[in-house]
Amino acid sequence: MTEQDKKSGTNGEEQLRGEKFFNDPGFWGFIHRSFTKSMGYTDGDLRKPVIGIANTFSELNKCHSHFRELTEYVKRGVWQAGGLPMEFPTISIGEPYVKPTTMLLRNLMAMDTEEMIKGHQIDGVVLIGGCDKTVPAQLMAAISANVPAIVLTGGPMLNGRLNGQSLGACTDCYQFTLEHKAGNISDQQLSDAENAVCRSDGHCQVMGTASTMAAIAEALGMALPGCAAIPAPDSRRRHMSEATGIQIVELVRRNIRPRDIITPESIDNAIRVTMACAGSTNAIIHLVAIAGRLGYKLPLERFDEISAATPFILNVRPSGKYQMEEFFEAGGVPALMKELEPRLNGDCLTVTGQTVAENLRDVTIPNRDVVAPLDQPLGAQGGIAVLRGNLAPNGALIKQTAVSEHLKKHRGRAVVFNSPQDLIDRVDDPNLDVEESSVLVLKNAGPKGAPAMPEIGQIPIPKKLLLQGVRDMVRISDARISGTSYGALIVHTAPEAAVGGPLALVEDGDEIELDIEARKLELYVDDETLRRRKEKWQAPAPAYDRGYGLLFIERVLQADEGCDFDFLQPPEIRNKK
Ligand code: FES
Ligand code: MG
Repeated sequence: MTEQDKKSGTNGEEQLRGEKFFNDPGFWGFIHRSFTKSMGYTDGDLRKPVIGIANTFSELNKCHSHFRELTEYVKRGVWQAGGLPMEFPTISIGEPYVKPTTMLLRNLMAMDTEEMIKGHQIDGVVLIGGCDKTVPAQLMAAISANVPAIVLTGGPMLNGRLNGQSLGACTDCYQFTLEHKAGNISDQQLSDAENAVCRSDGHCQVMGTASTMAAIAEALGMALPGCAAIPAPDSRRRHMSEATGIQIVELVRRNIRPRDIITPESIDNAIRVTMACAGSTNAIIHLVAIAGRLGYKLPLERFDEISAATPFILNVRPSGKYQMEEFFEAGGVPALMKELEPRLNGDCLTVTGQTVAENLRDVTIPNRDVVAPLDQPLGAQGGIAVLRGNLAPNGALIKQTAVSEHLKKHRGRAVVFNSPQDLIDRVDDPNLDVEESSVLVLKNAGPKGAPAMPEIGQIPIPKKLLLQGVRDMVRISDARISGTSYGALIVHTAPEAAVGGPLALVEDGDEIELDIEARKLELYVDDETLRRRKEKWQAPAPAYDRGYGLLFIERVLQADEGCDFDFLQPPEIRNKK
């Protein structure tokens, strides 16, 4: 943090922002006091540090359905600690509700949140988020606004239950719809599953993007220890909310800010936790964007380096066996970090006001079936591998823990779909020229192409192969996948097809090779042929010709750069290009 934007707290050198706001001796002070007191606050209240609470409750976001209640518990904590809680709304984005994809609105939410924090005279802020894109948006905003902040995540749903089976969204949502499509389960069974998978408040129960980002908020030091895994309806999430309210006042008093907490070292801790829990590939885009807000250009290779040196030890779906509820009972993120402690940067400061090492001092690991020991891991390496090759010069990702064994090294012929719509139109055509060994390629589903990289990288298995029992194939796209997806899915291919990346040049029948161990993704077409194809290539028409959609297409960065808007990054990183 520069001295210029660092402002002292209650250390006597300078007033808090809220104090200045209410104590202005002139006309504006009168207005600020008069207007605020009309809502029932007293002069005594207006002398307290002002704590903003970003409440992203929305009936258009199931994962945030309980946030009104959590907000009340945060307020309770703020009052107890001598602060003045002031709740405000920001936009709220729920995965299944926003079309074409929430990713289109992540940066808008980050801008909304940042400007709300900066535009109001608040001294600290609690950011209540949960569903996939909300926590990264809030973390990006927190860094840019750099006012003392704590993230409070909303917690996962209770495990779904049906016929003695434990179910989780959205992994089982795919399974049930797939088996229904294959004719293996009835309409009634599908309906029963619908009612059973989601049975409480909270976000998805597996280690999808929401759970991964909650774990990351904790690993970065921006959420209180233990926050991520407490189920949404559990009374202990209310206690955590109150504790967060108390702690934000303390952070204001001590003037601890997001840029004191989020550093390249704490980002390494977050990457390590992501890899140890085989977290969502989406987390990579978000962490690169978060780093970018610091002015830190985080290379994809850092993920691969840490992944290679971090065993996969968290036995939670989609790569493991259990769900967030069992992870909570097994000690949650603190237990996972305790096991990883020898490989973490223990000196990083956190919102407790203490370091990672201090936070972990008394942590125990009660269940070794959920948090496996480092020397008896579920996989020798972390969940995500970064692939390179002439098909992805700027990288592509694969969640290696979710790939069928026989596809980890595979060579096959491309079956190409030119757009998400082309995929929908043709994938189930009985005449599609495809076989089990084919490599399905989806183009124009990237940051500018789709736009906003919808989670359609889990290209469906063509129905005719599905009926033959095929359940996994190598699939390549410039799209994203849901953190709950499963299979040999190569995603985030960069540069994307819509800007003329090599993916744009693939044609039906081309040979493609995936070799996860060698981190290779190769298109076997000679350079001369590729050059001729490139000459004929035309960029697809943009999906928007006005408004926010157009701004998005014009200013969004590629997947390997975090898909932030270029102008939201600090000038020092922009000038490096
Ligand atoms: Fe919100 Fe899965 S839909 S976390
Ligand atoms: Mg998701």
